[in-house]
Amino acid sequence: MAPGNPGIDAETRCRTIDAQADDVERLLTFALENDVDFTVVGPEAPLSKGVVDAFRAAGKRIFGPTRAAAQLESSKAFAKDFLERHSIPTAAYAVFEALEPALEYIRTRGAPIVVKADGLAAGKGVVVATTVAEAEAAARDMLSGGSMGAAGSRVVIEEFLDGEEASFIVVANGTQYVPLASSQDHKRIFDGDLGPNTGGMGAYSPAPVVTPEVHARICRDVIEPTLAGMSAEGRPFGGFLYAGVMIDRQGGIKVLEFNTRMGDPETQPILFRMESDLLELLEAAVDGHLDQAMVRWSPEPALGVVMAAHGYPGPVRKGDVIRGLDADLGGAKVFHAGTSRRGDDIVTSGGRVLCVVGKGRDVAAAQRSAYAAIREITWDGMQFRTDIGYRAIARESAG
Ligand code: AMP
Ligand code: GLY
Repeated sequence: MAPGNPGIDAETRCRTIDAQADDVERLLTFALENDVDFTVVGPEAPLSKGVVDAFRAAGKRIFGPTRAAAQLESSKAFAKDFLERHSIPTAAYAVFEALEPALEYIRTRGAPIVVKADGLAAGKGVVVATTVAEAEAAARDMLSGGSMGAAGSRVVIEEFLDGEEASFIVVANGTQYVPLASSQDHKRIFDGDLGPNTGGMGAYSPAPVVTPEVHARICRDVIEPTLAGMSAEGRPFGGFLYAGVMIDRQGGIKVLEFNTRMGDPETQPILFRMESDLLELLEAAVDGHLDQAMVRWSPEPALGVVMAAHGYPGPVRKGDVIRGLDADLGGAKVFHAGTSRRGDDIVTSGGRVLCVVGKGRDVAAAQRSAYAAIREITWDGMQFRTDIGYRAIARESAG
């Protein structure tokens, strides 16, 4: 794992190496010198820097999309234009690099309306504006090189979609694919889906909103035309393809975004339920026999709650000492994100610090398990939502 963190260090079968995840040259040198047989790319930054292209050129097996294919995530304008070219359902939109036309578009369309930075912004480049003034302020901030830097020099402005979101991730290699279990993320910082967007404050799997019919529709109307379109355009997609979709009351779907990796925090509850071998699945993709791959899931739902640092999703304070990680957490598991070691302590070192995952007979039981573990953990300024999974739990108690 490069660079890993103290949580990964504590796993007996993992080793961390001192290399940044986006230092392509150093990673390739390491892989060559240490005879690394197979590499899996986690985050988007190295993908957009061409880590897969570089490894392949050197004859190393690697799982992930090429730089050209990773544009589905690294440029929202590319993704939207692609969706339109291939008649894949998505919100109506326009792309702007100049402020005046963007403002005019906002005024003409009215609110609610959504303003998105084109480039990579760690889940924080989207403003769902409820007023015209808020949308104008977001466009002004992004296009003037404000909080998003270069990622905001181009913006996508799109129609507001109402409905319930789900995350749908498949393992793909060009035209073949295997869907992973569905999940649902919670993007807003506060309970009840209030406050600004974050990278994700908690998730659970499976997402009941993804009924068998919705599942089939996402495969047929989104995943298959996307893979076919990418191949036809000469940038076949291999890797994790993540479609964030909005599902309306009639079960109609529209694509909100693509990621070219697994989502965070969706990955934690999804993989907590996986009973078959992940590595075998990814090797089958790279070696071209995904059609023979088998994936098995625990029928029990899993639910993960993100614990974030003081200030998140704005500028965060680092260095707060985390206590309680040694407590007996029952069947729950703590996944580290923004943590680091300082002497004998583990301290906060990023926005999203931990994700605590529980499993149970139903989503309510998985939620109880996760929050019981969270009660043991504390640091100055920690924040977490207390309602992760509320939609699924409402369905369970209604049904
Ligand atoms: P994105 O990174 O494009 O998925 O946007 C982040 C989050 O903003 C999504 O997960 C949604 O919660 C919200 N969002 C994005 N686009 C729209 C839209 N067109 N209508 C409503 N909400 C949206
Ligand atoms: N949770 C959504 C993402 O990883 O972008």
